[in-house]
Amino acid sequence: MTNTIETSRLFAPLQVRQWTFRNRVVMPPMVTCRSITAEDGVEWYRRRAAGGAALVIVEATGVPRFGSELTAPSLRPLVDAVHREGALAAIQLFPVNRGDDHQVDALVDAEIEGIVRAYRLAARVCLDAGFDGVEPHGAHGFLLNRFFSSAHNHRTDKYGGTPENRARLAVEIVRTLRETVKEKMLLLYRHSPVMEPGYGLEESLELTQRLVAEGVDILDLSPSSREGPADLAAPFRRFGVPVIAVGAMDQPSRAAEALREKRADLIAVGRGLIADPDWPRKVRRGQWDAVVGCIKCDLKCFGNLRTGIPIACTQWDEAEFK
Ligand SMILES: Cc1cc2nc3c(=O)[nH]c(=O)nc-3n(C[C@H](O)[C@H](O)[C@H](O)COP(=O)(O)O)c2cc1C
Repeated sequence: MTNTIETSRLFAPLQVRQWTFRNRVVMPPMVTCRSITAEDGVEWYRRRAAGGAALVIVEATGVPRFGSELTAPSLRPLVDAVHREGALAAIQLFPVNRGDDHQVDALVDAEIEGIVRAYRLAARVCLDAGFDGVEPHGAHGFLLNRFFSSAHNHRTDKYGGTPENRARLAVEIVRTLRETVKEKMLLLYRHSPVMEPGYGLEESLELTQRLVAEGVDILDLSPSSREGPADLAAPFRRFGVPVIAVGAMDQPSRAAEALREKRADLIAVGRGLIADPDWPRKVRRGQWDAVVGCIKCDLKCFGNLRTGIPIACTQWDEAEFK
């Protein structure tokens, strides 16, 4: 049982430029295997916003889909639903379509330029749809993260070799996004603090410093694997932008401690919000005993994701959060 005094820090508002976060709880991007432009996908996100999260980051979405399949009018119901429930809405932008595998070393210049161009178009669409923020997915060993990893990137051109070169694509994307959305949107960046082998914390800090210099407003720091150390956000606070701590932060006392010890400014609750969208509301009221807790079995969240079935939770009361 956690009392409300211990967790009150979780519910202090945070101002980031013109955006007010009603508390410190972020729903991180999680592929739902639902359509974000269809009713069930919209309802999934609306329900999580209604549970009290301050910022809902919509799942990894391939930039090639924007402009054709995903348009401002088709995305607006999702954004409006999240806003109506009082949360901010961002969306994670993935450099390629899900399932497409690209090797860093094999990409030619024209393909790299195409990725940056697709980010530009995606950002325009997201701005027109009313999103408050966009987040390039630079974590978890996917393409942008592999560009930064010396274990995956063996290029000998301006995108390979030194940390500066390995950071170049991420920097170009962030610069393009900032040019495109000006000050009208928040720029988040999701990065994995360490990836062994590939890069350590020092190189990671070098990358994020460059990204902040290009205009990133919030660093979303997610471990590169479930075996990796959770919550390595603290060292990244030195750049003066808010950081999100990610990874099994759904114990309210643990989340509040990270805030109290100034290791993070915001806390992501991922699987915890799949299990119980009302996590923020219940924790705020001190009703921790009433939270449907995530047991980290990963059977119907990661498990369903692997097979493309809409994600769910083994802990759900069949009738409750479907
Ligand atoms: C079903 C599922 C889908 C996920 N999809 C994404 C994704 O689209 N992009 C991403 O960066 N992370 C994704 N993640 C990782 C989460 O955002 C989060 O980093 C991870 O679950 C750890 O946080 P947690 O311990 O609070 O669940 C996903 C996780 C799950 C369970």
